[in-house]
Amino acid sequence: MNSPRRVLVTGGAGFIGSSVVRHLLEDPDVEVLNFDSLTYAANLLSLQCCADNPHYRFQRGDICDLEAVQQAFTEFHPTHILHLAAESHVDRSLTGPEAFIKTNVLGTGVMLQVARDYFDRLSSEERENFRFLHVSTDEVFGSLGDEGQFQPDTPYDPSSPYSASKAGSDHLVRAWGRSFGLPVLITNCSNNYGPCQFPEKLIPLMILNAKEGIKLPVYGKGDNVRDWLYVEDHARAIWSVAQNGKVGGTYLVGGEEEHTNLDVVETICNILDEEIPHAEIKDRKSLIEFVTDRPGHDFRYAIDSSATCKELGWAPQESFETGLRRTIRWYLENDAWLESIRSGAYREWMEENYAWR
Ligand code: NAD
Ligand code: TYD
Repeated sequence: MNSPRRVLVTGGAGFIGSSVVRHLLEDPDVEVLNFDSLTYAANLLSLQCCADNPHYRFQRGDICDLEAVQQAFTEFHPTHILHLAAESHVDRSLTGPEAFIKTNVLGTGVMLQVARDYFDRLSSEERENFRFLHVSTDEVFGSLGDEGQFQPDTPYDPSSPYSASKAGSDHLVRAWGRSFGLPVLITNCSNNYGPCQFPEKLIPLMILNAKEGIKLPVYGKGDNVRDWLYVEDHARAIWSVAQNGKVGGTYLVGGEEEHTNLDVVETICNILDEEIPHAEIKDRKSLIEFVTDRPGHDFRYAIDSSATCKELGWAPQESFETGLRRTIRWYLENDAWLESIRSGAYREWMEENYAWR
């Protein structure tokens, strides 16, 4: 039997965080505290399956609120911190960067300050086991051309306020490791997809618009390339790095599934046409509309996770084909989850930006 682990997850009500929480709770020796401020991107229905689990608790709190974070550490007494809370959408960072600087940079700073004080008060045995894992993105490395892949030592070159704020938080995490001996680890992963993703990101937005027969806004020519990682594969990687990664290490996590945006949108259209034909629209690809490109749009992301795979024995299990089908099915079958976000700020934002109805 493993010794009990007490895992404080920030951002556990978000897309990746909720997958991480569900994964952690499969292990009866793990206790989870989900610390989340519940922004527009959060949905507690993503964790309905855990709500009655005695090993799970939820605390609504902001990572920028030092006292609330301190209280969570003191009361829960974590062995591991999995830090995922962030503002995560590039397009929002272009119209409102302030929230990104606040949560991603300052909030991570608060997490580190509190973690350091907490770590310094632990017994030497507890210190041996304590880990602070920061979940970051491959977008900190900037844009690739047609060739090459990001490596753990690729220089930082972020393009958007989102990726710059994540880069800033990565630097803070490394500094707390080097200057104060906090046992930190960083993961940089590629684009995630799967159930429970807020439908402002490419894949869920296209699934829902295509299902309803609403136009599909593809930026530029649709030839930008992303590497797609199924969220449950990512959740396994995060926990594996937190438990078995080397302190101070950087771990790249990718899905080995590079696709152009146009390819992704067309595949979604084809699957939906096959599974739920639309009464009037025979070919949903006709809904594709090429719109003004995103400013500073990174052309290509590709990630070399071979070092992570080799060291930790982790590998993505889901192919893009199977993962996308699972994801589409999930969005077709989870009306209650969708209804819960089709209200308030989300509705207003969608009405402003997309032909949502
Ligand atoms: P998300 O937007 O779905 O969820 C973010 C969660 O953080 C939400 O539950 C939100 O309520 C919470 N949160 C935001 N601000 C907070 C604050 N100040 N205090 C406490 N909680 C707060 O994001 P996601 O897609 O699940 O991403 C999780 C992490 O993974 C982020 O750090 C993101 O940068 C990183 N990441 C995401 C992707 C991706 O493809 N989604 C790729 C690489 C890295
Ligand atoms: P997104 O899901 O926002 O993730 P990121 O910007 O972090 O990669 O976008 C994925 C790709 O899809 C990106 O190249 C931008 C593009 N995109 C569109 O073409 N149309 C859209 O409506 C959205 C949201 C994204």
